[in-house]
Amino acid sequence: MTKPRVLSGIQPSGKLHLGNLIGALENWVKMQAQYDCFFEIADLHALTTGYDNPKGFRQAVLEVAIDLLSVGIDPKKSTVFVQSDVPEHCELHLLLSMITPLPWLERVPTYKGKIEELKGKDLGTYGFLGYPVLQAADILIYKAAAVPVGQDQLPHLELTREIARRFNFFYGPVFPEPKDVLTPVPVLPGLDGKKMSKSYGNTIALSDSPAELTKKVLSMITDPARVKKTDKGHPEICPVFAYHKIFNPEMVSKISAQCQAAELGCVECKKILAEALSKYLTPVWERRAHIAGNRGQLEAILRDGAGRAQAIARVTLDEVKDAMGLK
Ligand code: TRP
Ligand code: SF4
Repeated sequence: MTKPRVLSGIQPSGKLHLGNLIGALENWVKMQAQYDCFFEIADLHALTTGYDNPKGFRQAVLEVAIDLLSVGIDPKKSTVFVQSDVPEHCELHLLLSMITPLPWLERVPTYKGKIEELKGKDLGTYGFLGYPVLQAADILIYKAAAVPVGQDQLPHLELTREIARRFNFFYGPVFPEPKDVLTPVPVLPGLDGKKMSKSYGNTIALSDSPAELTKKVLSMITDPARVKKTDKGHPEICPVFAYHKIFNPEMVSKISAQCQAAELGCVECKKILAEALSKYLTPVWERRAHIAGNRGQLEAILRDGAGRAQAIARVTLDEVKDAMGLK
């Protein structure tokens, strides 16, 4: 029996961090067992906002590829590829743009949201408005049955289904409508207790060294009411405790009790966490050391992934052109 196909994408816009691991990547790794997974490094999507600074794009792509492989995305099971290595995405994007009404794009929440967020950057471009059409092309070109995404991406998925429906209505049934797979994940706080995000500079990167990890953990904020060890703590509002819950589940009840009884000091508690995290990340670090030292192999994995992706993309694109009367 063939496994259902899944596609997801990630922009190469910086080092991936523990929040990405917990929020998305661990789910991707698990999905490899049940699905035929396609994982795309969406460099063209990154260009929609980073068009004025393309230097170092390829390097960023390779770093994300290393991050993906280091967490256990297995190129023997899954297809890992770079979006721009499969130019069929661009062609389908153009064809889909013919049938996508402008108001559909203007009402996507990320459109106004991103413009607001990146004030000062000119995002009044055709390419940026078309961002979700490109994403629809990514998904539909593989006829993906399901797309694992975070909450913020749901409107893009809805738009993808609307475009698929409209296409099928005009030209006949070519595209299945992809389901979204939302992972109910705890949001991982950053070092300062806010949401972990690259733009806040409060992350623990997958590529941080063990020493950097320990230093960062020791710098984390804790229960602000706890000034001295003799003050009783409130673990539920402490970011360090949020990490223990995810990365150190065996010790959680003990830590909670000792914190509330003022028996455990915050420095000690953080040391325990740093150790638990190191243990958790050791396999990631080991895979990373292996992959990062072998650039040739990394390039070969991406080339192979692009080849596999392209073989499928071509078949769909032929069908699309046929349906649209271009062949
Ligand atoms: N827009 C997605 C994000 O920013 C990245 C992405 C590009 C994607 N193409 C995709 C996600 C296809 C799912 C499917 O997170
Ligand atoms: Fe947080 Fe641990 Fe300090 Fe309690 S002991 S406040 S859980 S860091």
